[in-house]
Amino acid sequence: NPASIVITIDGPTASGKGTVAHRVAKHLGFQYLDSGALYRLTALMAIRTGVSLQDEAGIAALARTLPCQFQHGHVLLGGQDVTDAVRAEQIGVSASQIAVLPQVRQALVELQVSFRDGVGLVADGRDMGTVIFPDARLKVFLTASAEARASRRYKQLIEKGIAANMEDLVKDLTERDARDSSRATAPLKPAPDAIILDTSEMNAEQAVQQVLEWYAEAQRAM
Ligand code: CDP
Ligand code: CDP
Repeated sequence: NPASIVITIDGPTASGKGTVAHRVAKHLGFQYLDSGALYRLTALMAIRTGVSLQDEAGIAALARTLPCQFQHGHVLLGGQDVTDAVRAEQIGVSASQIAVLPQVRQALVELQVSFRDGVGLVADGRDMGTVIFPDARLKVFLTASAEARASRRYKQLIEKGIAANMEDLVKDLTERDARDSSRATAPLKPAPDAIILDTSEMNAEQAVQQVLEWYAEAQRAM
């Protein structure tokens, strides 16, 4: 349904996209697409089925028929609950390795677009505003300093009881930013019509309120 409204929230890792997009969707009664989860699920599937992360055609084939379901905050792959497994930092790294492959990105387009089927959609990722939903009503590019982002990730991991190390996190996140920003296909960069929101000095709720305000303005301008 091309008429349904889309809000895109793109940005680097741990900028707060997931948290902010999810809350904005809840406020507005919109659907939510976590596009990073699709790259993560594809990477997890490849690792579990023994497909090399360099095998572009093999991974694209997995992505095209990804047996995934999203149910009340849980993610299923082939019927198995992989909610925690898919969020592992190592799977984020593997996801960013397969995300450079153009055939894999192409294979996930249709699935991403299919989430736009209801009242409205909030989509978060890297290329939601630039490639997947260029006609979005509102495009936000969330950023924060590498230090702020690493300490957010650190807190999240410790809260989940997962051992973490700040130094490794900063290194991992800087490498992932570099790979996401420098790739030829759909690199991480703000759409020309995106509004940039630096949340280094903001909490998640302040970011949510800012996005809702911009959305209300965009609606009034229609
Ligand atoms: O939560 P975090 O920002 O760490 O990662 P994510 O959004 O789950 O995405 C994992 C990886 O998938 C990213 O590092 C990107 O390389 C890739 N990705 C992408 O290329 N395009 C998207 N729309 C979403 C994710
Ligand atoms: O999806 P992305 O990787 O961009 O970030 P996330 O998974 O939403 O994680 C961001 C974490 O930082 C969450 O624990 C948030 O509560 C926290 N946070 C935020 O999202 N926004 C802020 N302005 C400050 C903190």
